[in-house]
Amino acid sequence: MTDLYRTATRAFHLMDPEEAHLLTIRALKLGLGPVDRSPPDPALATTLCGLTLPNPVGLAAGFDKNAEVPLPMLRAGFGFVECGTVTPYPQGGNPRPRLFRLTEDRAVINRMGFNNAGLEPFEARLRALKRPLSGPVGANLGANKEAIDRIADYVTGLTRLWGACDYFTVNISSPNTPGLRALQSRAALEELTGRLGEARRAMVGATDLNPPVFVKVAPDLGEDEVEAMTEVAVAAGINGIIVSNTTLARPESLVSPHRDETGGLSGAPLMGPSTRVLDLFRQAARGRLALIGAGGVASGDDAYAKLRAGASAVQLYSAMAYEGPGLVLRIRRELAARLKAEGFASVAEAVGV
Ligand SMILES: Cc1cc2nc3c(=O)[nH]c(=O)nc-3n(C[C@H](O)[C@H](O)[C@H](O)COP(=O)(O)O)c2cc1C
Repeated sequence: MTDLYRTATRAFHLMDPEEAHLLTIRALKLGLGPVDRSPPDPALATTLCGLTLPNPVGLAAGFDKNAEVPLPMLRAGFGFVECGTVTPYPQGGNPRPRLFRLTEDRAVINRMGFNNAGLEPFEARLRALKRPLSGPVGANLGANKEAIDRIADYVTGLTRLWGACDYFTVNISSPNTPGLRALQSRAALEELTGRLGEARRAMVGATDLNPPVFVKVAPDLGEDEVEAMTEVAVAAGINGIIVSNTTLARPESLVSPHRDETGGLSGAPLMGPSTRVLDLFRQAARGRLALIGAGGVASGDDAYAKLRAGASAVQLYSAMAYEGPGLVLRIRRELAARLKAEGFASVAEAVGV
């Protein structure tokens, strides 16, 4: 079966990347995705801010922008799935082409620009999910490009999706919505987390639910910025940081003809830089925030390196463009073997060691 998916993935490579992605989503909706039939591995089970994960390998935001396939992706073996980025109102995103494979570099550049169908269908799909699910499903929140008060868009997302998802991610690190990353500055982040905290407290009071809230950051941050963001996040009661989104940097090593396309770079060349920033957050947070490592994860060793740098769980997207959704089972197998070889009986034991 895995060979079938590998062949299909190779065939998809001959197509325009965005068309291939749309076709993948359609196939997954039809139930044509891989199904994980392996017994659960207790050594991979872990927790993240009170969420129970069957394994620490999650699907990163951007793959399922409209919350169409969280169930098929859990079935494929992911330990958790993050849908979105969703904005309050539907928007078309940037003109095509806006997604590029850098095959020689095992990388991707995208400048999608938060193309999504808006909160309404997103909320309806999440509320229709039959629970319990095999793993948590998160909602990644964004702001409409034309919004006058961008912070209000995040508050709207949090309020509307309260009780519909297991956790929230506040995405202030997409490079493809002009000015969005400015929300990472100390003053803007204070205002954003302050207003979100207020909305959150009101919802907790009204519902007795209190899902964790994560902030997703860029990899293009220096030590001072990491320290400032950490202090603001801790003070505001943010539960964790996802490190990281795509990078604006273009490493010298890139050889693909698409290397100079505008947008965010992800995949293998992001592994080193995003893990270094993860390590900075670990040092700054000193256990006060959970960390989730994203950027370039394509193997069990990559996932293991993120855990050692302080991540309680990891997420991936770009590597799937090269290997298809079957990739998660290989990563899980490799990670379990690596943990055992290093003498760790569980994921949690290896975090930040
Ligand atoms: C095509 C594409 C679209 C993405 N869209 C989003 C998005 O909507 N929201 C978000 O927070 N991250 C988005 N990302 C970033 C990923 O979630 C992830 O943080 C990043 O790609 C690094 O992981 P990777 O190297 O495993 O892809 C997107 C990435 C790609 C490749």
